[in-house]
Amino acid sequence: MPEKENYILDYTQLAGQRQYTQLIREYLAGAHETPPLALVHSFGCQQNAADGERIKGILGEMGYGFTESPEEADLIFYNTCAVRENAEKRVLGTVGAMKHYKRQKPGLIIAMSGCMTQQQSVADKIKKSYPHVDIVLGADAWARLPESLYGALCQGRRSIKSPGEEPDTILENLPARRTGWPKAWVTVMYGCNNFCSYCIVPYVRGRERSRRPEDILREVEGLVAEGYRDITLLGQNVNSYAGGIRFPELLRRINDLPGDFRIRFMTSHPKDCTRELLDAMAGCKKVSKHLHLPVQSGSDRILAEMNRRYTVDHYRELIAYARERMPDLSLTSDIIVGFPGETRGDFEQTLDLVQKTGYTALYTFLYSRRSGTRAEGLPDPVPGEEKSRWFQELLEVQGRIGAEYMERQVGKTFRVLVEGPGRGEGKLTSRNDQNVIVEFPGDPSLAGQFAEVEIVSARNWALEGRLVPEENR
Ligand code: SAH
Ligand code: SF4
Ligand code: F3S
Repeated sequence: MPEKENYILDYTQLAGQRQYTQLIREYLAGAHETPPLALVHSFGCQQNAADGERIKGILGEMGYGFTESPEEADLIFYNTCAVRENAEKRVLGTVGAMKHYKRQKPGLIIAMSGCMTQQQSVADKIKKSYPHVDIVLGADAWARLPESLYGALCQGRRSIKSPGEEPDTILENLPARRTGWPKAWVTVMYGCNNFCSYCIVPYVRGRERSRRPEDILREVEGLVAEGYRDITLLGQNVNSYAGGIRFPELLRRINDLPGDFRIRFMTSHPKDCTRELLDAMAGCKKVSKHLHLPVQSGSDRILAEMNRRYTVDHYRELIAYARERMPDLSLTSDIIVGFPGETRGDFEQTLDLVQKTGYTALYTFLYSRRSGTRAEGLPDPVPGEEKSRWFQELLEVQGRIGAEYMERQVGKTFRVLVEGPGRGEGKLTSRNDQNVIVEFPGDPSLAGQFAEVEIVSARNWALEGRLVPEENR
């Protein structure tokens, strides 16, 4: 991506949209005695969740309050995901069921946005077969949200994404309604240029666009001032960040901001994950010692078919270097099982890599054919049941490795960030630097603070600990 700035727009300067926002505010104030309620649901990845907070921010400016219940809602907004077929099916099932609510409450507005509706074929299908949906926007088309909503609310006009609307801008200064305190997401770049052969994301999220470092720094500074203590920098491939400085430098600059907080980032692509990045992680005190480095497969042949542009050896070398620099590093990864043409032999190489690497956690997916991607037409002879068996095998192997990792943490002391009440009576939930959940008995007033916790036992998904009193530290 050329490092140009003319694709960056300031939301507060979009006069037309500001006017629509004001008109909707006035309309809603006249039509409702109490603030109308919106249900906003984001499917998919963290980036979508972060976008969902922006959608809520924009709706909040118009006077909407928020609810989780479709019965109560005056506006239902689905921010969709297209990464796998079952993600799309889930969305369509949920949206289909909303017909019933629309019948009961004719004034109800139903809107959709996100990766799924960015595909023109999906937008067309909704236009034709889901007449109860009033608004369809593409991925990150927030600039048009006030206008579309005004049309639907005040003029009874349906607004469906038209062909050719590609995501190609960055909107700065969008309002956000964050729900994850003391954790916050900060998107540093949008889009993806990698075109992994199985993946729909580059088609629906457009080309890579990086935010300016000064905008990112200002946002992080503001969040820290508001009491956020865990900042996750988001991008489909943060290592190709190109906002005038490279990603390791961005990390260093955020690390230099005043305040006690933690910096996380995702996702890193192994082909762009450099030693410089690992050195920056090792050298920056605030940067979490957790690396999510999706490998996808342990077979060079499959990696080449996937267009991942690295080899298993390269990946292993990166990890060896990362562990040398950060002995307490926690590694997580994504793996796809059943890519077209994957043989038992290829899969065994994946199992071998997983066993030798020792991941803290693994996100495993069964390959899902996505229309328009390069892998779409590849012969795929292995039956689904066979792939499912491999998938189970991988889960079992990782289950053992994960449990061993958790057991090894018993007796260690970690600095954790307390997130709030835990599941058990009097328990708090927190995360350590490695992003592992740690639960311990404690006072809820500790939420949003760092604490020292000694681990006393391990469960599958969480560690159990006890607070180390101040005088023993
Ligand atoms: N940009 C990130 C994440 C992309 S989507 C990255 O490159 O890592 C998250 C994960 O979904 C991917 O890492 C991949 O493992 C999985 N995924 C993407 N497309 C898929 C498909 N068609 N079928 C199955 N899993 C898929
Ligand atoms: Fe998809 Fe690959 Fe881009 Fe990740 S890097 S979003 S897997 S194309
Ligand atoms: Fe899904 Fe789009 Fe994220 S396809 S995983 S919501 S980038």
